[in-house]
Amino acid sequence: MSTTKQDLVNVNLGERSYEIKIGNGVLSEIAKTIKTVSPDARCVIVTDSNVNSAHGDTLRAFLDGGGIAHSTLEVSPGEQSKSWSVFQQVVDGILAAKLERNDLVIAFGGGVVGDLAGFAASVVRRGMRFIQVPTSLLAQVDSSVGGKTGINSAHGKNLVGAFHQPAEVLIDLDVLKTLSPREFRAGYAEVAKYGLIKYPDFFSWLEQNHADVFSHGEGLAKAIQTSCEAKAEIVAADETESGQRALLNLGHTFGHALEGYTAYDGSRLVHGEGVAIGMMLAHRFSNRLNHCSMDDVTRVETHLKAVGLPTEISQIPGDLPSVETLMSFIAQDKKVKRGALTFILTKGVGKSYIADDIPPSEVFGFLTDQLTK
Ligand code: GLY
Repeated sequence: MSTTKQDLVNVNLGERSYEIKIGNGVLSEIAKTIKTVSPDARCVIVTDSNVNSAHGDTLRAFLDGGGIAHSTLEVSPGEQSKSWSVFQQVVDGILAAKLERNDLVIAFGGGVVGDLAGFAASVVRRGMRFIQVPTSLLAQVDSSVGGKTGINSAHGKNLVGAFHQPAEVLIDLDVLKTLSPREFRAGYAEVAKYGLIKYPDFFSWLEQNHADVFSHGEGLAKAIQTSCEAKAEIVAADETESGQRALLNLGHTFGHALEGYTAYDGSRLVHGEGVAIGMMLAHRFSNRLNHCSMDDVTRVETHLKAVGLPTEISQIPGDLPSVETLMSFIAQDKKVKRGALTFILTKGVGKSYIADDIPPSEVFGFLTDQLTK
C-alpha cells in the first residue's frame, strides 16, 4: 500500500461531503480512491491532449494496477472546449463507453476539463459521480472544489451549467512541474484571491513567501492547502451561492468581460490573468467609490506585479476593447439583478463584500477612465 505523504481537507456538505487529498504523488491513490467511492466502478477519463500526453499513461497505469477498467476521451486544450459541441461529444462519449450510474467519470486536467467533465457527469443518466484530478494550479486551488460545472455561451462565460459536487478531489503537486510558467502564474491569481477576499494573514504570508511557492518549495503545498481550506469553508457555508460564496468571484465580473472580449483566446488572455486584472479593477473601483484606501490598491498592485501577473487592461495583446463591449458582457453576468449590477468590492486587503446596487453608469465611467489613462 502506498505511504504517500498527504494532507486532507474535508468539504462538509452533508451527504455530498468529500475529501480533498493533497500531496506529492497522490495520483498513485486513484485506484484506492475509486474503490472507496464506488467498488467495481468502470471509468471514463476526460482529459485534454496536453495533459494526456504528459500524464495520461501514468494515470492509466495506476488504474490498470488496481484492476479498474477505463477508457479515455480527449478534448482540445483551451477555453474553446467549454462549448456546446464539445460538451455533446463528451456526453455521447460517456454513453458510448456504456458507463452505468455506479461508474465514474474522472476529470483529469485543468479548469476547462473539470468544468466540462463535471457538467457532462451531472446530466448523463440524470447524474453520475465524478472524481476531480486537477492538473493546473488554478484547478487545484479553485475550480475542482465546490461543484461548479459548466460551459460557456456566446453570451458569456459559464452561463450554462450545474452545481454537481465531485465524489473526491485528488491534488498531486508533482503534475504541476510540467505546467508552463504562464499557466502556473495565472493559477496563482486565484491563490492570492483568497487572501484578498477574507484571509489577510494569508495575503501577508504570500507577500513574504511567493518566491518559495513559485519555485515549488514547501510553501507550494501550504499555499494549495490553505486555498482549499478557504474554499471548503466558504462552499460548506453557501453551496449554491445564495450569499458569501459570491465573494469567490472577486475580480471575476471584470475578468469574465475581458475574456469575453478576447473570445476566450488563450494566446491573448487566460482565465487567471483575467482574474488578476479584474481583481485590480475591483480594488481601483472600490477606491473610486471611497471604500478602499489607495495604500491597499498599491499593496495589491505591488504583489501582483511582483509575481508577474498583469494589472492593466492595456497589457492584453491586441486592440483595446470598447467600454460598450465590456459593458455588454458585464450586463450578461450572472450577478445582474433588475438592472443594478452586483460586484465584489472591498474595504481593503481581506475585507471584500458583496455590493448589489452598483449603477451601470458608475461602471461605465470607471472603465472609460481605465481605458483612456
Ligand atoms: N470559482 C468560484 C466558485 O467556485 O464559487
